[in-house]
Amino acid sequence: MAKKTDSQSKAIAGRAAQPVSGSHALDFGKAWTYAPSPEATDHIKLDKRYELFIGGAWKKPRAGKYFSTISPSTEEKLADVAEADAHDVDLAVTAARTAFDKYWSKMPGRERAKYIYRIARAIQEKARELAIVESMNGGKPIKESRDVDVPLAAAHFFYHAGWADKLDYAFQGRRARPLGVAGQIIPWNFPLLMAAWKIAPALACGNTVVLKPAETTPLTALLLAKLIEECELPPGVVNIITGAGPTGAALVNHPDVNKVAFTGSTDVGKRIQRAVAGTNKRLTLELGGKAANIIFADAPLDQAVEGIVSGIYFNQGHVCCAGSRLLVEESVHDVIVRKLTDRIATLRVGDPLDKNTDVGAINSKMQLTKIQELVKAGEDEGSTRVSAACALPAKGFWFPPTFFTDVAQSSRIAREEIFGPVLSILTFRTPDEAIEKANNTMYGLSAGVWTDKGAKIFWMGQRLKAGVIWGNTYNKFDPTSPFGGFKESGFGREGGRQGLAAYVELEG
Ligand code: NAI
Ligand code: MG
Repeated sequence: MAKKTDSQSKAIAGRAAQPVSGSHALDFGKAWTYAPSPEATDHIKLDKRYELFIGGAWKKPRAGKYFSTISPSTEEKLADVAEADAHDVDLAVTAARTAFDKYWSKMPGRERAKYIYRIARAIQEKARELAIVESMNGGKPIKESRDVDVPLAAAHFFYHAGWADKLDYAFQGRRARPLGVAGQIIPWNFPLLMAAWKIAPALACGNTVVLKPAETTPLTALLLAKLIEECELPPGVVNIITGAGPTGAALVNHPDVNKVAFTGSTDVGKRIQRAVAGTNKRLTLELGGKAANIIFADAPLDQAVEGIVSGIYFNQGHVCCAGSRLLVEESVHDVIVRKLTDRIATLRVGDPLDKNTDVGAINSKMQLTKIQELVKAGEDEGSTRVSAACALPAKGFWFPPTFFTDVAQSSRIAREEIFGPVLSILTFRTPDEAIEKANNTMYGLSAGVWTDKGAKIFWMGQRLKAGVIWGNTYNKFDPTSPFGGFKESGFGREGGRQGLAAYVELEG
């Protein structure tokens, strides 16, 4: 645990313009303010109500139930969305099975590839609309959805289209057969991108799909269903059904599903693992994380501070691989805290549709409550809180960029996934101590290392128990590199050649 040094208390206290109930809230003025620059939404035509996309058609849910989906930044209702029950799930799985038997498993890879390319291009053509709807429904800044989520979603389809006719070369002399029907369940933090991560490799390998988006963010997956409809895929190859946990559970438990792919909380991941135990369903899980972002004294510190900011504050920390534990070499602790204090005061928090916004809305009331509860636990456990003193909008769900110093390894804020713009700062003195602290977690999804020495990055990389390790950068993604975790972060990989393995049976 980092002892609070005198110079550090001064650094914090000296800048504490308005301490807020035991915390230090900082506001030393924005360097400049920008005029509002919101994306226009008048060209966005959302339906009042969305049905279930099953067998290439839009079907009403049998029970006639709908739920509303809102914008977390305004709390305004955006649309009503169908709630699929077990019967609707059965229709979707049956449609996927029929499509598998009749069309998709028989189609040569080069033909499947054409459809997947078509989806990729359709996403590019509708990029603007998809980005805006993603920010409206999920609360993330338009900068992120426009520059990261949507282009990467298209890239995943392009990349996997390229594999569809080359599977014979992916597995060194072995023949790859599709598994059948894939049941896929995704979370709310990257709604369109996670749909792409799941659907693209499944289709490339010759499987058909039933996908369920998260209940708070169904809209871009439903827009994707419309694009897939326009791309004229054979009916039932991709089915998109909406609903909450029970809908997901019905999909996992359906006897005719051959593979389950899940991204979400570790709790639900464990429940799914229990549900498929004893069946011959294949399973991949991408669960939580508590990534260590490790800053050595010889790192380019200003660049590292930018990496910290993009690792935890952009996207409101709603990233499973967020760099939520900062491990700083003791000798640069105070300077990093000072630079970070200055930097978070300039982050623009607010309207996700404004092109200047850095930090958007928290995805849901439930998630905001969880963040508030964990931050309170941090304060109660004696850590020192620093929050940017930004004005938060009256409506919607918001949390200011925040970090904690004086954090013990045993404290909840150092161990539990907060999934919000909240960073816990710890220190280390030697590379060995950095490794020990970084690996001291039940998770193992990602890590970051910042140093001037390439050799140190490799040395650390060999010892860190994390599926993805970034060197002098953070949160960079590419469809060609496999992504996935160790320990309670799950198993299986998505992306790259390794990601294909989750969707094929190998023969020979
Ligand atoms: P969740 O794990 O409950 O939801 C993820 C998906 O699973 C949603 O589509 C949901 O409808 C579905 N689901 C829920 N219960 C299910 C069940 N019994 N069977 C099958 N599917 C089910 O995550 P939630 O409640 O939204 O968030 C809770 C915490 O999980 C967050 O605070 C965060 O810490 C973590 N989380 C991690 C994510 C990641 O990418 N690793 C993504 C989202 C949340
Ligand atoms: Mg849940």
